[in-house]
Amino acid sequence: MIDQQSYKNTAQGPPNPRQITADILLQVIQKHQQLDITLEQALRASSLNSRDQAFVRQMVYLVMRRLGGLKHVLGQLVNKPIAKEAALTRTVVLMGLAQILLMRTSDHAAVNESVDLIAGAPHPKERGMKGLVNALLRRAVRESSKWLKAMSERPEADIAGPYRRRWGDRFGIETVKQLGASLASEPPLDIRLKEGEDGAKWAEALDARLLADGTLRRTFTDVTSLAGFDEGLWWVQDRAASIPATLLGDIKGKQVLDMCAAPGGKTMQLASMGANVTAIDRSKARLKRLQQNLQRTGLSATVEMADAAEYDSLLSFDHILLDAPCSATGTFRRNPDVLWNKGPADIAKLAVLQSKLLDHAFSLLPVGGLLIYCVCSLEQEEGEGQITAFLKSHPTAEIVPVTSSEVPSIEQTIANDGTLTLMPSVDAEAGGMDGFYIARLRRHAAG
Ligand SMILES: C[S@@+](CC[C@H](N)C(=O)[O-])C[C@H]1O[C@@H](n2cnc3c(N)ncnc32)[C@H](O)[C@@H]1O
Repeated sequence: MIDQQSYKNTAQGPPNPRQITADILLQVIQKHQQLDITLEQALRASSLNSRDQAFVRQMVYLVMRRLGGLKHVLGQLVNKPIAKEAALTRTVVLMGLAQILLMRTSDHAAVNESVDLIAGAPHPKERGMKGLVNALLRRAVRESSKWLKAMSERPEADIAGPYRRRWGDRFGIETVKQLGASLASEPPLDIRLKEGEDGAKWAEALDARLLADGTLRRTFTDVTSLAGFDEGLWWVQDRAASIPATLLGDIKGKQVLDMCAAPGGKTMQLASMGANVTAIDRSKARLKRLQQNLQRTGLSATVEMADAAEYDSLLSFDHILLDAPCSATGTFRRNPDVLWNKGPADIAKLAVLQSKLLDHAFSLLPVGGLLIYCVCSLEQEEGEGQITAFLKSHPTAEIVPVTSSEVPSIEQTIANDGTLTLMPSVDAEAGGMDGFYIARLRRHAAG
């Protein structure tokens, strides 16, 4: 069996961005490591300059977003599948195909650099696959229009099989096609301004589009270089992720508990809306990021490391926001690895935790208080399944339906019961949004 050694152990000379890209993709595709963490660790450990870092980032995300389509093309190009053990060879071919079909790299460079990459592979058997890599990629160049057409005709191929079926059953095949198509381009960068900042002014300064709900939307970039970042006048938050906090209405001076708060997107939003926020999370590392975010934006909250399933406080809260840990399948455009590395077993496990957190959150809620439950998931078990079961076992809980004026221009996302189901295919012309399920609950008096 061929070793899956990484280039890291054999690299000599200056760091090679393509080798680093291949190593990251191997970790994510073969070893099911989390993409964002693996990428950041690899870049931090490398001495790549910022241009090469941007190349690695772009290539890794492109291959992961289009993995299903690229794998399909590869399957058609080979007479027999490349051995499972030759994982590096397959990765290098997928990278080569991405460059030939989806990037502006010259065909000549894409083929030659891929061949060089495999010629320098750590294992002799993979080095012996140089000829195969060359032949496959040359054929892909000759037939590129055919393969590009095949990929664009089947956008759903980029959604991993289990989710294609799940979401097909739930939303219909047309929606799955639209969800697949949302992977063809880089997701937008969404910015949320502090309350009181002038949206139109900042749209101009940030070269962004101002959406009806106040989101500033632009193309992806290194945010630290943008105006207003150092001054902490805004933070990055997907349009969908900014909706849950707004559903609490006017919270100036109210005590709000943000359960599962880190890294603090919603904490900053709640604090900016004028609430006295208590933000809890059980992850020390993520709370550190929350603290940094608060510091940069000059917003304040009481921050505690705690298990939200057992949390108790001397304070009584007016409202609670529970942004529960979930499969994150709704963020598949930003985290395409979830489609390939998270499955039904993860979802079932998380659903148990969500139900526990929801029960406990409700036990801390006063009569008349609002509880926002949300998950960045497109899975029934984590969304409406959770709330249906919860309402059955909690007779003093009711849904406070979201109204159309609360979600301008996306009223169609309000379900019959008044909860929200958001997804990348919603308002697709404007760039879509992450998938989210959001329910607003209230406790009423017993009897
Ligand atoms: C979806 S993320 C929260 C995102 C955050 N609300 C925001 O807007 O930036 C879920 C969070 O739940 C935290 N978490 C998971 N289980 C928890 C528990 N039992 N108690 C407290 N926090 C928990 C995770 O550490 C993670 O930070």
